Amino acid sequence: MHVKPNKDVHLCSRKSIPLGNINDTAPNEIFHSVEMDDVREKMLNGKCVAGCEKCYHEESINNGQSLRTFMNNWFDQLIHHNNVLPWKEGFLERTSNANVNWASKFKHLTPSIKWVALHASNVCNLACRGCYSLLSTKWRKDEEKLGINPYPLQNPKLNDFGFNFKNIDFVTMYGGEPFYMKQNNELTNVMSDADNTSDKILQYFTNGMILPSNETFDVWRDIKKLHLIMSIDSYGVENDYFRYGSKWSTIEENLNIFLDKQLPHWEIRISTLINIYNVKTLNILHQWLIQKGVPETHIDYNLCIYPQELDIRNLPNKYKDSVVGTYKDINLPNNLKNLVLEHIKLEPTIDFIASSAFSKKLDLLRNQLNPVTELETYMTKDTI
Ligand SMILES: C[S@@+](CC[C@H](N)C(=O)[O-])C[C@H]1O[C@@H](n2cnc3c(N)ncnc32)[C@H](O)[C@@H]1O
Ligand code: SF4
Repeated sequence: MHVKPNKDVHLCSRKSIPLGNINDTAPNEIFHSVEMDDVREKMLNGKCVAGCEKCYHEESINNGQSLRTFMNNWFDQLIHHNNVLPWKEGFLERTSNANVNWASKFKHLTPSIKWVALHASNVCNLACRGCYSLLSTKWRKDEEKLGINPYPLQNPKLNDFGFNFKNIDFVTMYGGEPFYMKQNNELTNVMSDADNTSDKILQYFTNGMILPSNETFDVWRDIKKLHLIMSIDSYGVENDYFRYGSKWSTIEENLNIFLDKQLPHWEIRISTLINIYNVKTLNILHQWLIQKGVPETHIDYNLCIYPQELDIRNLPNKYKDSVVGTYKDINLPNNLKNLVLEHIKLEPTIDFIASSAFSKKLDLLRNQLNPVTELETYMTKDTI
């Protein structure tokens, strides 16, 4: 179950149609609702579920591999073989899940909540260009200035979500920023009091600016598996520009601390959002991470699709040509190069003038200068 800060419950991070809201209906009721049973039945019978189109599209172009089939395999290994596979590893590889009969693997199970992915609040210390106020309170002021009605502060107690975390094997803490919010300390307390701490898998997405408490580090020592996923989008000042409010020296310091403290059951990963600003310089971040000791297979790349203004499809043709030229001999893994080159050649969804206007307005509000100078030459003052 994927829970947004406003307590809307979704099937996963992708499916946009909520199944219910925890303010009105308890999580267990939503999980056993007629609607959920219908989804289960459709999935078990190989029928399509409305809202899951992104996965079906991936499966059609990627030899049966999608987030959905990747997770099927991940949970099959966990439930039937007690094996925690690496997170998202091989997700971009064209290894085939097409011929696996998933229904035969899962239909004997009684449904129970195995995984809760929780946006426990929208309290955040940053206002990254790809984000917005549903997930970051720091965005609210700028959205108001841009004439957008911001989402309100969402900051319930962890208990208010109505989950019994002691009985849930796998918890993901999204945000806001997990290490900036009270709910993570509450989760730490629940986990340290649980008598089955060693069975828990905990996963965190963090912006890397804040370290967790010593109590959280203590819990991480005792659990079955930790996925610590640091979101870094570029190297140095370009990262600070995009991830507004962040400071590169602190990011580096905290990454060093995590890598130094690392235990064998920890999986430290990096998540990078491919967007108009960083597409030409991903190699600099990638090589820096490898030199730091982060394995190549632990760097996850996602295409930015929303906001459309940051989608590389919407770059001007001349800049696209320049990117394609750079990618001829860029030092990046082939699957990432293919992903970028396949996506960038698609038709734009909006005019680049909208991207320029978005960029310029934020620069003005935040008193920032775009450090990606080649891209900046395509963005004119007239677009504000
Ligand atoms: C919303 S953040 C919350 C956790 C934490 N604050 C962080 O930044 O990692 C969760 C993940 O969403 C990613 N993200 C932000 N904006 C996005 C967008 N427009 N499209 C896809 N992912 C995005 C972030 O980079 C991060 O990896
Ligand atoms: S740090 Fe995470 S939640 Fe905060 S603004 Fe950035 S992406 Fe959004």
